[in-house]
Amino acid sequence: MDSSDAASGGPAGAPLVVVANRLPVRCVEHDGEMRWDLSPGGLVSALTPALAGGAGMWIGWPGDGVDLAVPAEHAGIELRAVPLDDAEFEQFYLGFSNATLWPLYHDAIRAPTFHREWWYAYMSVNDRYARAVAEAAAPGATVWVHDYQLQLVPKILRAMRPDLRIGFFLHIPFPPQELFLQLPWRRPIIEGLLGADLVGFQVQGAASNFSRVARRVVGASGTDAVLDFDGRRVRVGAFPISVDTTALIKRASDPAVQGRARQIREELGSPDVVMLGVDRLDYTKGIDRRLIAVGELFAEGFLSTSRAVLVQIGVPSREEDPHYRREREHLEQLVGEINGEHSSVGRSAIHYLYQSVEVDELVALYLAADVMLVTPLRDGMNLVAKEYVACRVDATGALVLSEFAGAARELRDAAILVNPHDLDGLKQAIRHAVDLDPNEGTARMRRMRRIVRRHDVQAWARTFLAALHADSSHISTTPDPG
Ligand code: G6P
Repeated sequence: MDSSDAASGGPAGAPLVVVANRLPVRCVEHDGEMRWDLSPGGLVSALTPALAGGAGMWIGWPGDGVDLAVPAEHAGIELRAVPLDDAEFEQFYLGFSNATLWPLYHDAIRAPTFHREWWYAYMSVNDRYARAVAEAAAPGATVWVHDYQLQLVPKILRAMRPDLRIGFFLHIPFPPQELFLQLPWRRPIIEGLLGADLVGFQVQGAASNFSRVARRVVGASGTDAVLDFDGRRVRVGAFPISVDTTALIKRASDPAVQGRARQIREELGSPDVVMLGVDRLDYTKGIDRRLIAVGELFAEGFLSTSRAVLVQIGVPSREEDPHYRREREHLEQLVGEINGEHSSVGRSAIHYLYQSVEVDELVALYLAADVMLVTPLRDGMNLVAKEYVACRVDATGALVLSEFAGAARELRDAAILVNPHDLDGLKQAIRHAVDLDPNEGTARMRRMRRIVRRHDVQAWARTFLAALHADSSHISTTPDPG
């Protein structure tokens, strides 16, 4: 391709292209009218400064059932939509991405489904994304490919545009080889990723899993940090993602948001202890174990509705997938049982909301919560844990954190770590958090706040892009404390 023909990113194309399954905008209703808004979330705020003002482009899917045309530019970022038709939504998005890769990469918590038709759709959609990038990128541009939906893009893109510098970051876990080797298409997936110059993961364990599999499956040589394959050098490393700490602190310091937090506590009946869970409603999040543990603590009398309440937000997600529908039914049944047995008139043990929550309301909930329960069975990072810490501006509050969340690597010295499969351990961790000595709680929270202040999402993006541009075979990443 003659890159001066690039259709977007100015006549010469975009010098930085971000490609992710989703665009950074979402279609929302305002006063009866649909319009595009920037999506909330760290990834968008991390990359907006680098992309704004014509410096870059974001390529992605506008979402399911969206009729409104995607604007060529929003908030200074050039956008390029990759639409999916109904069959691709079924086979690429719901199928291969979320019913094959998602469960396989999350410890096979649900049995992954292997369908050849889904794989064909995955190949063809990845090819379409790669073409869109190849058309949009300036000569010698930097391309940053995100997440499990697009693992074939680096290799396809390199074949079309060898002049590009290509980075890939996986937001979810990368499984140990015993699981990954089940994948009938393990070889093309690994080759796809090895098309990048730099492959980044949330934690060192995932990076090592990948390098080990790359040596075994495609015969790459080298260490966990540098692989040689197909006459090229590919660097591999851990880049733990974080949150927009400054923006969260600003919201959490806003008197209106703090007032809303006080109001939430009053609306809950001014209990001594507010516990909070905030998750996409996903079977990887371990919400049922958390509910069972809390239910048993009510049953044993350690918790009573005059003293404590759990607010559980389940953000609707992938509702067309039967695993997600069943998970929702299962959780709603559990909430019903626990509330039926332990609530009293006007006081519920569990307040369960199946809805998404606007950012200010979310921050107010974090401020209202004495105890945050983040207990996934497996999670690449879990940004809710870091958001809670960032919002606790008065350094109070306790975080119960699963040791199977990537966030535990950085927060393990100060969070109350738990194995979410161990119900007794989970109950003990919740008791510990509820009864935490205030001085100890503040000391722990201060330690965690230092970490999320130092390693915010902007630092994450800077570190990744700097490593992508570094020529040395040694990459320096955020230190992993173990
Ligand atoms: C996880 C994935 C993202 C994904 C998000 C929401 O965080 O790592 O790639 O976009 O979940 O899931 P959805 O299927 O709605 O895009």
